[in-house]
Amino acid sequence: MRNESNVNSYARQFPAIFESGEGSKITDVAGNKYLDFFCGAGALNYGHNNPRLKQALLSFLEKDAVVHCLDMNSAVKDRFLERFESIILQPRDLNYKVQFTGPTGTNAVEAAVKLARLATRRRKVISFTHSFHGMTATSLALSGSREEKHKVNPAQDVIFFPYDGFFGEGVDTMEYLEKMILTRGTGVELPAAIILETIQAEGGVNVASNKWLQDLRRFTRENEIVLIADDIQVGCGRAGYFFSFERAGIVPDIVLLSKSISGYGLPLSLLLMKPELDVWKPGEHNGTFRSNNMALCTATEALEFWKDNSQEKTTAQNAAIVKRQLEQLAEASEHVVAVRGTGMIWGLEFTSGAIARKISSNLFGKGMIIETCGNNEQVIKLLPALTIPEAELRTGLSMLAEEVLALDNSVIMEHNSLVA
Ligand SMILES: Cc1ncc(COP(=O)(O)O)c(C=O)c1O
Repeated sequence: MRNESNVNSYARQFPAIFESGEGSKITDVAGNKYLDFFCGAGALNYGHNNPRLKQALLSFLEKDAVVHCLDMNSAVKDRFLERFESIILQPRDLNYKVQFTGPTGTNAVEAAVKLARLATRRRKVISFTHSFHGMTATSLALSGSREEKHKVNPAQDVIFFPYDGFFGEGVDTMEYLEKMILTRGTGVELPAAIILETIQAEGGVNVASNKWLQDLRRFTRENEIVLIADDIQVGCGRAGYFFSFERAGIVPDIVLLSKSISGYGLPLSLLLMKPELDVWKPGEHNGTFRSNNMALCTATEALEFWKDNSQEKTTAQNAAIVKRQLEQLAEASEHVVAVRGTGMIWGLEFTSGAIARKISSNLFGKGMIIETCGNNEQVIKLLPALTIPEAELRTGLSMLAEEVLALDNSVIMEHNSLVA
């Protein structure tokens, strides 16, 4: 739009005017349909306008339920807390208190760092290379992947360390981290917290190994450092289990959920903390839109997906399909350098950002929405809905494969014409 700020970004990448959405398809005002492999950057794990969630929201509105009451108690909040405890926490033997932060992911990150500093009375926070934690001051300072933005944002007592695999196989970056923190005279002081994504989504779909995560948990526990898992993009089932860290059998001290916790694209964020970390005084972190009741209504309904392990099974089946197809594609194309992922988050890494961007934009022209990530935007990130029907999943994978292989042919044709 003419009067919208230059800051807008996704409308440039996907230049259509969207009007309606159903499941994994969205339609623009001209009636063109798009297969959505982006899902609101992970905010729509159950697809667009999931009928179950929509019905819950319609009934909520129909009965004039209270839509906004700051963080006063409401029937919908009570029910959400009760169901979250019985469906998510208890079966996983997790003992967390729940804080409703401001409704964006970045606000949950701000709250987590504040809380860790309050609880430990230390200031430094460790974050990792290629991380992304949001756009407000502290979150941006913690985001290794946005280093150009650090120029306008003071570093705020953040120390960056190499993520798992940063130096390739054979270098254990946890060993380096431990030694730097525990050895006197390195200049690195004991931090209040270490914040991480168990799978770096914006950073290029970098998957930390289970062993690295377990070593990090052991080290932080032994040294009373608060371990914060930012599960904003890869939580809520995206990585195969409800929480992304379940695969490693670890329990962080603080967990952040946002994006798909409401299940419907409505803003809501949660900070889960071990009870002993709840050192807040009432109102010490507040905000007008905490515990957004419409979001809590759909969030409560979305928990039903996790009542048994059927969603986990479906995700595992779909993940096997994606993995197989991407690996075949990597073998067939000389432009693909790596395939990484788990659950329903996958990355296909190309030799350059220009190639990945071209694929994303060509696919948009053919009716598919899929974005790039990574430090040079060299990775195509696949984030289909967890509820996508298998046929649509296969269609999307075929469209992607066709585009990648066409790229090989066009490059070969360019090469042949040059040789001729
Ligand atoms: C891992 C992670 N943390 C934090 C955020 C910030 O969330 P929000 O954009 O809702 O502030 C994001 C957003 O993409 C994210 O992926």
